[in-house]
Amino acid sequence: MPVLVVVGAQWGDEGKGKIIDLLTEKADVVARYQGGHNAGHTVVVGANEFVLHLIPSGILHKGKKCIIGNGVVIDPAALLEEMDSMAKRGVKFANSLLISKNAHIITPYHKALDVASEKHKGNKKIGTTGRGIGPAYADKINRKGIRMADLLDAAVFREKLNCGCNEANFLLDRFYNSPLVDKDQVFSEYMGYAKRLKQYIADTTLFLNDAIAGKKKVLAEGAQGTHLDVDHGTYPFVTSSSPTAGGACTGLGIGPNTIQEVLGIVKAYTTRVGSGPFPTELGNATGELLRARGREYGATTGRARRCGWFDTLIVRHSVRVNGMTGAAITKLDVLDELDELKICVGYKYKGKLYEDMPSELAVLENGTPQYITMPGWKESTIGITRYEKLPKKARAYVEKICKLSGVKPSIISTGARRDETIILQQPFRKPAKKG
Ligand code: GDP
Ligand code: IMO
Ligand code: MG
Repeated sequence: MPVLVVVGAQWGDEGKGKIIDLLTEKADVVARYQGGHNAGHTVVVGANEFVLHLIPSGILHKGKKCIIGNGVVIDPAALLEEMDSMAKRGVKFANSLLISKNAHIITPYHKALDVASEKHKGNKKIGTTGRGIGPAYADKINRKGIRMADLLDAAVFREKLNCGCNEANFLLDRFYNSPLVDKDQVFSEYMGYAKRLKQYIADTTLFLNDAIAGKKKVLAEGAQGTHLDVDHGTYPFVTSSSPTAGGACTGLGIGPNTIQEVLGIVKAYTTRVGSGPFPTELGNATGELLRARGREYGATTGRARRCGWFDTLIVRHSVRVNGMTGAAITKLDVLDELDELKICVGYKYKGKLYEDMPSELAVLENGTPQYITMPGWKESTIGITRYEKLPKKARAYVEKICKLSGVKPSIISTGARRDETIILQQPFRKPAKKG
């Protein structure tokens, strides 16, 4: 059972990129299973910062296979742009990247529909990344999508593109009153992308199952976070895929019995980008301090992230729906300067105390968070690599949030760099197979 799934436990941006890059050292294969270039995963190596959107965060390690699975939606233009910019920085793809032939593609009309739909919603907008993610997944579920394999057959692609683009243009014109998409231009552009991407397109499910049978260590990379999951998140303020651990099975074509560990990435406080309820949000100086110290600005859109206290209801829900076997607590160092820290343990709404994550948006939007308070440690934890070196009060905070969330910490992150990490329990119980 050599698969380790990495999932975001909150609303995304928990620091998945850093942890995946770190764990890749012990893995043979890293595979993205859902989402698209709405993701922004930051990896810092020495003085260099890389932001990965579609390419798995393991790409910076030589000799590892990186897979973009069937559950991902791919904008070929964005993928090639990302590959080109990584190539300029010395990253090679020839023997490392594989793209599923069953992954669906994002076209300019998906993007146009995403943007037009958000505009139409006005103040009820979701605050999407505007990348066409929702409309591409909608077409997939509606059995009208275009897959990577279709790109390789000009006649099939032309037919599917015509159908999709005609329908989208009807909506853009008549319903959204927005500019139309030129399907001939899309066709010729996408044929160019097909030429360049052809060499990477493969049956990744077969590859992954062979790797698993050969006892290779596979790291399944989730994007977004549990509370952005289309089923388990704060619907409709979610993304259109399944970032939770189950998504790794459908998004890669591997069996649930191949999964050995589910590592939840848990930020030591909470952030969210875009609209939607956020019970512990801080609209004050403390929120600003978290944003400034945590550099909480979107890695994809540059938007300021909303910041707030740690919420145990949110994380406990994630522990449940993902079957989390361990947690990486990230960005502990961001809390170093605070006098005291609050931890949400319930919401009160209309006289009722909610101690488990409610699915009713009204409770999340209007409930009053119930907090316990812990003292701050007021000293630097930046770069600490051993648990016993953490200030006593910082350890007490970590232990409290983990106990209340019902999860064991395996990793504690004290900075953006690889080496700024405390490893309490090594992932993958047996060493990676050579060769
Ligand atoms: P992801 O989407 O989950 O991969 O997270 P992002 O990369 O969007 O956002 C996390 C940000 O926090 C990035 O800028 C990381 O470089 C940074 N980061 C990750 N872990 C730590 C940490 O422990 N401490 C600090 N200060 N920054 C961190
Ligand atoms: P990573 O992988 C944080 C949010 C958007 C919006 C909602 C829907 O870096 O953690 P979409 O464009 O997906 O239809 O937008 O989801 N969102 C993210 N928030 N981190 C992400 O990815 C996100 N990807 C999407 O802000 O609220
Ligand atoms: Mg991110």
